[in-house]
Amino acid sequence: MSAYILEAKGIVKTFPGVRALNGVDLKVKKGEVHALVGENGAGKSTLMLTLGGVHKPDEGEIFIEGEKVSFESAHDANKKGISIVYQELSLVPNLSVAENIFANRQPVKFLNLIDWKRLYEQTKEMLSLFDIDYIDPSALVKDLSIANQQVVEILKAMSFNPKVLILDEPTSSLTEVEKKQLFKNIRILKSKGISFIYISHHLHEIFEIADTVTVLRDGEYICEAEVKDIDEDFLVSKMVGRKISNIYGERDKDTKPGDVLLEVKNISRAGAFENVSFSVKRGEIVGLAGLVGAGRTEVGRAIFGAEPVESGEIYLEGEKLNIRNTKQAIENGIGYMSEDRKTQGLYLKFSIKNNLISNRLKDFCINGLISEKQVSRNGEEKIREFNIITPGCEQIVGNLSGGNQQKVLLATWFGIKPKLLIVDEPTRGVDVGAKSEIYVLLRELAKKGVGIIMISSDLPEILGVSDRIIVMKEGKVAGELSKEEANEEKVIAIAAGVQTNQKECV
Ligand SMILES: Nc1ncnc2c1ncn2[C@@H]1O[C@H](COP(=O)(O)OP(=O)(O)OP(=O)(O)O)[C@@H](O)[C@H]1O
Ligand SMILES: [Mg+2]
Repeated sequence: MSAYILEAKGIVKTFPGVRALNGVDLKVKKGEVHALVGENGAGKSTLMLTLGGVHKPDEGEIFIEGEKVSFESAHDANKKGISIVYQELSLVPNLSVAENIFANRQPVKFLNLIDWKRLYEQTKEMLSLFDIDYIDPSALVKDLSIANQQVVEILKAMSFNPKVLILDEPTSSLTEVEKKQLFKNIRILKSKGISFIYISHHLHEIFEIADTVTVLRDGEYICEAEVKDIDEDFLVSKMVGRKISNIYGERDKDTKPGDVLLEVKNISRAGAFENVSFSVKRGEIVGLAGLVGAGRTEVGRAIFGAEPVESGEIYLEGEKLNIRNTKQAIENGIGYMSEDRKTQGLYLKFSIKNNLISNRLKDFCINGLISEKQVSRNGEEKIREFNIITPGCEQIVGNLSGGNQQKVLLATWFGIKPKLLIVDEPTRGVDVGAKSEIYVLLRELAKKGVGIIMISSDLPEILGVSDRIIVMKEGKVAGELSKEEANEEKVIAIAAGVQTNQKECV
């Protein structure tokens, strides 16, 4: 009997122009959480899709409990004990929780009719695994929060009685509380002997939940370690192959923010935000902090004309704006980089070069026709400037790794040469190396006099990058902190509405 529940040896997987995996090994023990880390494009998702039967490896072997296996499909891998919990996509929004969990395997009775009573009972049983009584088996999945949808997704995977559950960046859309719940659920399943492969760019999570970690870099296996023996610096240096001392970098001492660029005065919209006022100077990075649901995204989208403002005024360079849609915002030099690159930011089926011009087609038109030559030149330039890792600008954006998709989005917005750029969760799903590159790019943009509003739930990022921090709570501005006075405790205290000396309440 093998010591490992799952073992992959020498996995090679190539795509046209990309060697995504180059002889990678992975060994997962029974009942452990095995983290897989690496920079964007290192090959983590490709390895998981190979272990999950979605991709066929070009070379290499996979063993389950010492027995060599090969998978014909994801369903086949499922039957043999490996399930992937997809971040999105796999649930059917208009079907109930129960139907999603037992899709195509619903219990039936006489005449092959679905036995709803039993279906709901079985679902309740599944939910009780996590002590959950607040999800109704008959509720439609589309009406659930993202975290609860993820619970359904995990239970669906669990209904196949897997030996190994793969979680690829499971916390990227979860709040802090929801993350705790997920970790609790992982521990429950772990105690039942289920093994996990856990992918995340939040390295502190690795130290919270994982037992073992494997590091990949550029499709190569780098090392495996017991989490208790290592620290974050070790992981970072293995991931990027160099030491990064301060990922947030430092503001250039000679540059100071200029005069006021944007002034938001008492803007309100019922149910979203109320009497919000603040300003942004030229060359200033203003961090917008707050808990999820504090109204930061709504304010950002309102400034960008993507959502209405019911009262109040917005001034840019001293002139009152009357922006009704995003096209007018772009014409006025305002850009907004969405927090959800997959549904609101990028055209996943289009090439890199076509994404890069999507918000300024006019600039590439000659006599009403798009100049392919200029589009390609712009594509190649941006790939170089933003260090996007890809064989070329013809590549379909959906095929890029998460971090590289994010860089394409950033490059698309830098392209309009904004006066004001709003970036919403700019480094979601982005590795440490690419994160620090994005901060450098944002600082360089600010240095050119562009005002930047950075909305982020990543507190160290807000503290590390912002020149000034505005904290929102329940749709209102709850406080403002200068770079010098700000620290994690103060931001949390304002965001949660408690005094700093009542820290235990936070
Ligand atoms: N279907 C595909 N077609 C072409 N190239 C692909 C495809 N899938 C992945 N790649 C490429 O393979 C490499 C590895 O990608 P992968 O998605 O596995 O990285 P990752 O480690 O999961 O990164 P991230 O942290 O950004 O999610 C990347 O260069 C990516 O562009
Ligand atoms: Mg990935």
